[in-house]
Amino acid sequence: MIALRDVSKSVIEPDGSARVLFDRLDFELSDQDHSVAVTGRSGAGKSTLLRILAGLDTDFTGTYMHDGRILQRTAPEMAAHRLRHVGLVTQDYSLLNDRSVLDNVRLGVPDRARATCGALHALEAVGISHLASKRPRRLSGGEAQRVAIARAIAKHPTVLLADEPTGALDETTESEVLRLFDQLQHGGCKLVIVTHSDRVAERCERQLQVHRHQLVARSVS
Ligand SMILES: Nc1ncnc2c1ncn2[C@@H]1O[C@H](COP(=O)(O)OP(=O)(O)O)[C@@H](O)[C@H]1O
Ligand SMILES: [Mg+2]
Repeated sequence: MIALRDVSKSVIEPDGSARVLFDRLDFELSDQDHSVAVTGRSGAGKSTLLRILAGLDTDFTGTYMHDGRILQRTAPEMAAHRLRHVGLVTQDYSLLNDRSVLDNVRLGVPDRARATCGALHALEAVGISHLASKRPRRLSGGEAQRVAIARAIAKHPTVLLADEPTGALDETTESEVLRLFDQLQHGGCKLVIVTHSDRVAERCERQLQVHRHQLVARSVS
């Protein structure tokens, strides 16, 4: 399905020094996979990994493959890949406060002719149709999280990437989001979830961690 091979990336710290984030990292999400949790220390590169998988960060060496084909790491090719196959829920939700919930979710559908229909379905799927005309700033954390998820799934992506999706939620709201993820999985959407929560990680089929610049099977410490 999608795979990273031999991915290396360094970043420049504010003091000007280079820091290795990934060193020949491999990752594979196969057709058989349903859900993968990614854990790791703060600053280990988890959000960067999701941005690479989403095609938003193309500044790395190595190979990104989709269905056995190497994707060119150019902005247009990666954007086309993202628009067709990948939904991303960022840590801060990235919602536009001057637009309605419905308009925010419409932005997740590249095909404008289908945007309203897709957005309404997505809002229904995450159980917040009644919030369609509200502004995001009037929502609770759990509601805003659902809007972000609705926007990411509105185009029916093959893979949903979620960056610490329950980090800001209380336990009850976390349970609701986890149920929603279960439904998405049953509907055939693959999940890659970056999380600090054992509870969330344990719900996933596979648990990986960013450790020493690579992705390895998670060892609970
Ligand atoms: N494009 C970039 N330029 C410079 N530094 C970056 C860039 N992307 C990420 N970083 C740095 O890389 C490190 C890892 O970031 P991040 O992926 O957000 O880690 P995590 O999500 O695991 O906490 C951080 O120190 C961050 O400041
Ligand atoms: Mg992060």
